[in-house]
Amino acid sequence: MTEAILLVGGKGTRLRPLTVNTPKPMVPAAGVPFLTHQLARARAAGVEHIVLATSYLAEVFEPYFGDGSSLGLSLEYVTEKEPLGTGGAIRNVAERLRSGPDDPVLIFNGDILTGLDIGALVTTHRESGADVSLHLTRVADPRAFGLVPTDGSGRVTAFLEKPQTPEEIVTDQINAGAYVFRRSVIDSIPAGRPVSVERETFPGLLSSGAHLQGMVDSTYWLDLGTPQAFVRGSADLVMGRAPSPAVPGRRGDRLVLASASVAPDAKLSGGTVVCEGATVGSGARIDGSVVLAGAVVEEGAVISSSLIGERARIGARTALTGAVIGDGAVVGADNELRDGVRVWCDAVLPAGAVRFSSDQ
Ligand code: GDD
Ligand code: MG
Repeated sequence: MTEAILLVGGKGTRLRPLTVNTPKPMVPAAGVPFLTHQLARARAAGVEHIVLATSYLAEVFEPYFGDGSSLGLSLEYVTEKEPLGTGGAIRNVAERLRSGPDDPVLIFNGDILTGLDIGALVTTHRESGADVSLHLTRVADPRAFGLVPTDGSGRVTAFLEKPQTPEEIVTDQINAGAYVFRRSVIDSIPAGRPVSVERETFPGLLSSGAHLQGMVDSTYWLDLGTPQAFVRGSADLVMGRAPSPAVPGRRGDRLVLASASVAPDAKLSGGTVVCEGATVGSGARIDGSVVLAGAVVEEGAVISSSLIGERARIGARTALTGAVIGDGAVVGADNELRDGVRVWCDAVLPAGAVRFSSDQ
């Protein structure tokens, strides 16, 4: 097993309130672009050649990761003119693969943080003789995912992407976004048009009698598609709950990157990351949050489970919980912003403008 495809395209809009110019996989989680963790984990599992299938803001990947040699990888980049969907993106990079027709090729969704035993998925694939093998995980609410019921031997019996009705929720096993494809199955995906692997390829393979094998693995797993999940994933990396060889420094309660400045009496906890050049003032308390490069958190601010964009400024004594503050935004002093709030890039909120607690 030596090669893999990483899917890092699509519309990529869900973090947009935070970062207009940074595609999701490049936003730092635990101090390095999120994609670094996936690349490093694949390398640790023995993968040597990875093709990045990109579409949205593709031009930022290559300058950062180059030929991959700093990670011990051989990396290639393929950019779609128009997003081709997950299956179309896979088919579009087929000519870059070096594997023979019966060889296994790993494919990863680019927004997943997981402790998956990649080698075990490949072993399952080999031993079952499947055409495609899928990592499955169990979640409490499967509606945002692909549902994948299996029989007693783990063979996939159906694939139901984003179930719409209660009757369609037949299992809590979902597609975790990591597959092994027999190389020839990739070549059989139609070329030159958008294809959804979830809505077209998997159901089509099943109805033609192909063998899809599921491997349920309940290790750490998180789709980082929302800013809230992204913040949690970053904190879990820092604290060591989510395994990655690419986290800089030691695991612990906080990660303060070089050239960040944190006042001695500020308190950082819950896997908080303070990125390069950011400043945290006296008495500030930050829990389970990400403070991106160049941001300023003034004295006495109290922040939890929030994402503070690059160069954003959080005023003195302002309280943030579950907030996303866009790049360059300013939240003045003495504000209180709660769960789900999005402050757009470069927006300015005056001091004392918003509160949730009693009127005083
Ligand atoms: N290159 C390329 N081109 N990549 C794409 C495209 C495209 O047109 N569309 C999506 N992708 C990439 C995304 O960047 C992401 O890494 C991955 O494919 C999955 O797309 P998402 O948009 O994140 O899909 P989702 O999260 O709603 O659902 C998928 O992931 C779930 C697990 O998190 C599906 O695979 C579900 O079945 C699965 O349960
Ligand atoms: Mg996703």
